[in-house]
Order: sequence, then structure tokens, then C-alpha cells
Amino acid sequence: MAAAPEVVATAAEVRKRVGGARGAGKSIGLAPTMGAFHEGHLALIRRARAECGYVVVTIFVNPTPFPPGEDFERYPRDLEGDVEKAGQEGVDLIFAPPAGEVYPTGDCTFVEVTGPLVECLCGPHRPGHFRGVTTVCARLFNIAGADRAYFGEKDYQQLLVIEQMVRDLRLPLEIVPEPTVREQDGLAMSSRNRYLAPEEREAATVLYRALSEAGETVKSGERAPAALLAGVREAIEAEPLVRLQYVELRDAETLAGVRRVEGRSVLAVAAFVGKARLIDNVVLEPEA
Ligand code: PAJ
Repeated sequence: MAAAPEVVATAAEVRKRVGGARGAGKSIGLAPTMGAFHEGHLALIRRARAECGYVVVTIFVNPTPFPPGEDFERYPRDLEGDVEKAGQEGVDLIFAPPAGEVYPTGDCTFVEVTGPLVECLCGPHRPGHFRGVTTVCARLFNIAGADRAYFGEKDYQQLLVIEQMVRDLRLPLEIVPEPTVREQDGLAMSSRNRYLAPEEREAATVLYRALSEAGETVKSGERAPAALLAGVREAIEAEPLVRLQYVELRDAETLAGVRRVEGRSVLAVAAFVGKARLIDNVVLEPEA
């Protein structure tokens, strides 16, 4: 049984611990999270544990990716439970800072990826969201000095935006994508699933079902985006407890629109189920 991870709240403490580990010849793995761990988070942590000598997990409910009116105040928090789970996975260090440690008083520096990657999918629906994510991740990367940082494909657009930032800023770390972890009935794990009433939880399974059906349609030869999008829309709109926000089909690397499903494409949805806004996606890889 691994020792409980150390929990620190300041950048200076993180740098000291990470410096010590690096001095001992260890590579550094980082999993940035907002806490309330589920199996999706734990998959990133396990991968980091398997690949790196020293594993840092950040738990920080970043106020800035939550546009006004979203669920920042009631976002689930469970530091005690998270520390215990992290301990079971052999995490070395948890960085759980107060907001002022990440955003010092009077700060006015932001990191923003611009262009096509942020102009589609969640971008237009959540103004300022990706700027908040890149700003906090740039700061966390800078504090932790990791060699590898682990991100889930569940937040596919976030993953691409972070990769773009790392390339553009020449940051010396590798971004490692981890496949989406799902419940047995296919629902993508998310901290927001705990907002769902039982009948909403049941209804939410339509999202992955609709995406998977579209995947099957592609396998049987369909290449027209309009047909795939219509199929997903129809399936989701048939579920009265689910309100579709978008369904889009895009190139899996650039997020450019696609005219025909030929290369790797991502089919992504966002929908409200009760008060929870859920997202999901599948990557379609038609055989040539
Ligand atoms: P959070 O929603 O806590 O997610 C932390 C990491 O876990 C992200 O990389 C996310 O993609 C991954 N993750 C969440 N659910 C997953 C699932 N079902 N399967 C696989 N991975 C999953 O994403 C954020 O926090 C924040 O935006 C953050 C990057 C921490 C910046 O504030």
C-alpha cells in the first residue's frame, strides 16, 4: 500500500518537491484536475504512475473557465476523498492551491489560443472558457515543471487546444492523451453526472448511444456528414429529458469542418440533461 500523498498549497513547495525528485533522476508526470475524482481521472493518474518516476496531481476548481451562470459555486468538491483515492494510486504529490496562489493579486497575463480550434464545438457556447483553461494550465505547467501531462479525450477540444498551446509556446513537456472512460452503459464519466436525477441519468445514455450508432453507420459505408448529424440529432431529440446544444463533425486534428468522412474525424455533442451540461465524442476512422 503506497504512502498517502503529500498535499501542498504553494508553488514554492511544489517546486521544491519536484526539484528533489528530478535531482534523484525521476521523470515528472502531471495530471491537472478539478478534483471530485472518478475513474476517468484515475485512468490519467494510473497512466502517469506507470510512465513517470514522480506523479503530481493538481486539484484546483479554476474559477475562470466557468462563464457567468455556470456551476462554479456548486461544482463538486471532495479533497479528503480525492487524497485517499490518489494515495491508493501511488500519487506522490497533490497540489491543491487557494485561488490566490494561481492568480496572484493584480495579475494581468493570460494565455489564449485563437483561431479555428476555439471557434467551433464548445468555443462559441462558452465564451472565455478555453482562455481560462489555457491560462491555468500554462501556470500549472510552469509551477510543476513536468515532463509529461495527461489529458482525457473526453474533453477532446480541450486536449487539442492544450497541445496547440504547448507547441506554440515551445513548452518543454509532452501532452499524453488518454481514452474516455465510460460507465457500463456507455455514459462518459464526468463529475457533473452526479447532478443527474435517476431518470436523467438513464436519459443521458442516449448521447453515447447516438454517437456509437453514427460510428456503425460510417462502418457500413456512410460518408456524408449531413446524414450522420441528422441521425444523432434525431436520436437525441427523441429523448425528452435531453436538450441538445450542438452536434458537429470535424477533422480530428484541426477541427475544420468535413465535407465527407474520409480521414480521422471527431463527432462531438454537448447537451443539457436537467441542470448538467454534458459533452461526449467519438473519433471516426473510416477504412480507406
Ligand atoms: P476535470 O474536468 O477535472 O478533468 C481533468 C482531466 O480528466 C481532464 O484531462 C479530462 O479530460 C479528464 N477526464 C475527465 N473525465 C474523463 C473520462 N471520462 N475519461 C477520461 N478522462 C477524463 O478538465 C478539467 O478538469 C479542467 O479543464 C482542467 C484541465 C483541470 C483545467 O482547469
